[in-house]
This record gives sequence, structure tokens and C-alpha cells, in this order.
Amino acid sequence: MRTWMVAGNWKMNNTIREAIDLAKGVKDGAAGIKGGEVVLAPPYTALQSVYETIKGSQVLLAAQNIYFEDKGAYTGEVSPAMLKDAGCTYVIVGHSERRKYFYETDEGVNAKAKKCLQAGLKPIICVGETEVEREKGVTEFVIGIQVKKALHGIDKLDNIVIAYEPVWAIGTGKNATPMEAEEVHRFIRNVVGDMYGEICKKIMILYGGSVTSENIGELISMEDVDGALVGGASLKIDSFLGIIRNITEKQK
Ligand code: PGA
Repeated sequence: MRTWMVAGNWKMNNTIREAIDLAKGVKDGAAGIKGGEVVLAPPYTALQSVYETIKGSQVLLAAQNIYFEDKGAYTGEVSPAMLKDAGCTYVIVGHSERRKYFYETDEGVNAKAKKCLQAGLKPIICVGETEVEREKGVTEFVIGIQVKKALHGIDKLDNIVIAYEPVWAIGTGKNATPMEAEEVHRFIRNVVGDMYGEICKKIMILYGGSVTSENIGELISMEDVDGALVGGASLKIDSFLGIIRNITEKQK
């Protein structure tokens, strides 16, 4: 059986002090959970402080982005070694906000995913269709390309997580229905199966987009939904812990 994961993407929120307080709340609230992973992705400035707060607990650290070069004259960028040094286990790669506002391409996402793996970091690769693409009926076409391009040239799936995040559901309060999510998750698993074979049954596929403690129960009941990448609801301790609690309840 696959394990589950709940990852909190804090985006551009929280000062160092606020980040430490929230991380402490998550660490205490998630103590003793079994069968899954809780991950926090604070902004760069708070990575190390959050790491110091959660070190030795079950909560793991993620960065929200990475650069695909090792070092040098890349003003404003952060390297894989720097993220390792700050305590990261995971890195969110190719979030739709980065694709939209910072012009990230599928090729760039692929380069970043490869760089993560080389450095011993685990990429959480985000894919998702826009509202127009869904209305036009090209969701699978779009997602298929994103998945194949992101994984191009990667020979082992072991340390990869995929997050399906429909763009129209992010921050809108309009989440995909459990069935809509399941259809795309199953499609992604099949695409991965065509590329890698049976091992596709092991890859963790998270759903993201307006996940709350109220809707996670039904989403996680779907066969191919293995957890959640949570934005807004990860900024409040009660809602984030509620999501974790509802997942662990369902696993019993
Ligand atoms: P949301 O964001 O939960 O606020 O919709 C999800 C994400 O962007 O990862």
C-alpha cells in the first residue's frame, strides 16, 4: 500500500517568527501520526528556522522552488546544495504560480526535477490544467504532456512525488470533485505506467486546489489520491491539523 502525504505550501506568507510558531504547532499536533508524511514548505527566508523547529520530529521540510545550476552568477536564485544545507528533504517544482508568473516551462521543470534528484532532494512535481483547457476537454492531453516532459530522461521514479493541481481550483475555493480528481490521478498513474511499468503503482500522487479539512475525507477515499498539497488551509494550524487528522482517520 502507498503511504500518504500532506504538504503545506505556505507560498509568500509568514515572517520567520510566524513560521516558527506555525511549525511548532504542526510538529506538536502531528506527533505520533503513522503511515504517512507531513511536509512544510515555508518561504526561503524561514527554511532554516523551520528546520530547527521540526528537526527530529516526523515533520519534513520542503522548499517552494530550486534553481537547476550548482552555483554562480544567478542573482536571486537558490541552489540544490543550499536547500540541502537548510534541511530540505523535498522541493516543490513547477507549481502553476511559478509557471504563470515566472514563465517556467516544462523543460525548466524537468531540469529542476533532475537537479533535485542528483542532489538527493525529492521533487514534488506539480501539473494541472487551466479552466479553459478543462472546458475545451483537453485536460488529459495537457496533463499527459506535462507529466511526460517533467519526467523526460529520469530513469528512476523512487524519489518522485506528483501533485495534480487544477489551476482553476487553486486558491478559488472551487475544489475538484473526488471523482474529477480520481479520473486525472488514474490517468497520471497510467501515463507513468506507460513510461516506467508496474512501479507506477508506488508513486505518490497528491491532489491540490482548495483542499480543506471538510473536503479531504472524500478526496482521500479515492483509490489514486494519496494525499494533498495544501495552500490556504496550511496557514492556520487548526485547518492544517484537521486535514491530517481526517486522512489518518480514513486510513484506519
Ligand atoms: P490552495 O493552494 O490550497 O490555497 O488552493 C494549493 C496550492 O497552490 O498548492
